[in-house]
Amino acid sequence: MSGEGPAGRARPARDPEIVLGVETSCDETAVAVVEGGRTIRSSIVSSQVDLHARYGGVVPEIAGRAHLERIVPAAREALREAGLDDRGMPLAASGPGRGIGAVAATVGPGLAGALLVGISFAKALALAWQVPFVGVNHLEGHLYASLLEDPGIELPAVVLLVSGGHTILVEMDGPGSYEVLGETVDDAAGEAFDKVARFLGLGYPGGPAIERAAREGDASSIAFPRPMLGEGLDFSFSGLKTAVVTYVGKHPEVSSADVAASFQAAVVDVLVAKLLDAAGTSRARSVCLAGGVAANGPLREAVAAACAAAGLGVYLPSRSMCTDNAAMIASAGHHLLGRRGPTPMDAGAEPSMRFPAG
Ligand code: KG4
Ligand code: ZN
Repeated sequence: MSGEGPAGRARPARDPEIVLGVETSCDETAVAVVEGGRTIRSSIVSSQVDLHARYGGVVPEIAGRAHLERIVPAAREALREAGLDDRGMPLAASGPGRGIGAVAATVGPGLAGALLVGISFAKALALAWQVPFVGVNHLEGHLYASLLEDPGIELPAVVLLVSGGHTILVEMDGPGSYEVLGETVDDAAGEAFDKVARFLGLGYPGGPAIERAAREGDASSIAFPRPMLGEGLDFSFSGLKTAVVTYVGKHPEVSSADVAASFQAAVVDVLVAKLLDAAGTSRARSVCLAGGVAANGPLREAVAAACAAAGLGVYLPSRSMCTDNAAMIASAGHHLLGRRGPTPMDAGAEPSMRFPAG
């Protein structure tokens, strides 16, 4: 409800439908403003790739310190772009407009020191603005990237969540209602991309580096194994990484482009086959991709083609929504706030948080 200002003019109110999201679980400092869980009013992502590249991977302490330096500028930018001031209220003094009514932040899984920065910042804003704080599971957040961009998505959907730390097949009936159908028994798909890229000297982050190198290579030149294909809905990628290392050890003259293309083809084959198996054996009406690896071009093309052949609806979030961002956290926060209410202010970071059971 609008209050009365000193001069009797109606003050704009805060609206719980307008959520500020904060994401600092790994190496992106991200802040976004999302309305109604769907409409992105701003989404700022400050990548730390430049800081970590020379080490070949994310250095936790550097990540935490960089989040601390970048979080306030990122938040200011997100607020301005959404037409809001530093109090999260509409910039224009007159006219209609509503302010931020809740603050959501990733509470896990992720790097402890990195998570603490975002959680502390979000709680401080929630206290200062007197609005609810909502803690979001980062993995659950990734699922909302699809819903955020395509409200018309047909549920239940089978979502393949493929990120740097996780590879999970989830049946999603609706916000908050999930069933895990399969997951990796060892390395995540993104982790395999990162490790193989590092081994080949292609740089960090590994996924985009492999995808680039693979464009110059022949995907059928090396027959790498397709681990656990035809063996249920769980995944395994650590043996595939070992197969790459062994092959290159025996054939030192092989081109990195051929190895990258053949490795990528093996990962894509396994991911697509299991995603389609999961969709075929569940009640799913559509299929979605989520997580950083979902930005991979050959994976997107293969999923789209397989779903078209199987007559399944498919939704592929834009690449920037696949990789870490805060819009998905704000969107998840909106749904969670409606279903479960605010998160207690003494909630901590949960670096090893698991995917939430439905
Ligand atoms: O979801 P995300 O941004 O962060 C985590 O929650 O982990 O995923 C990062 C992962 C990294 O392993 C990165 O190499 C991979 O996603 N990735 C890709 C591509 N872009 C990012 N993997 C394959 N192809 C890509 N184009
Ligand atoms: Zn992620």
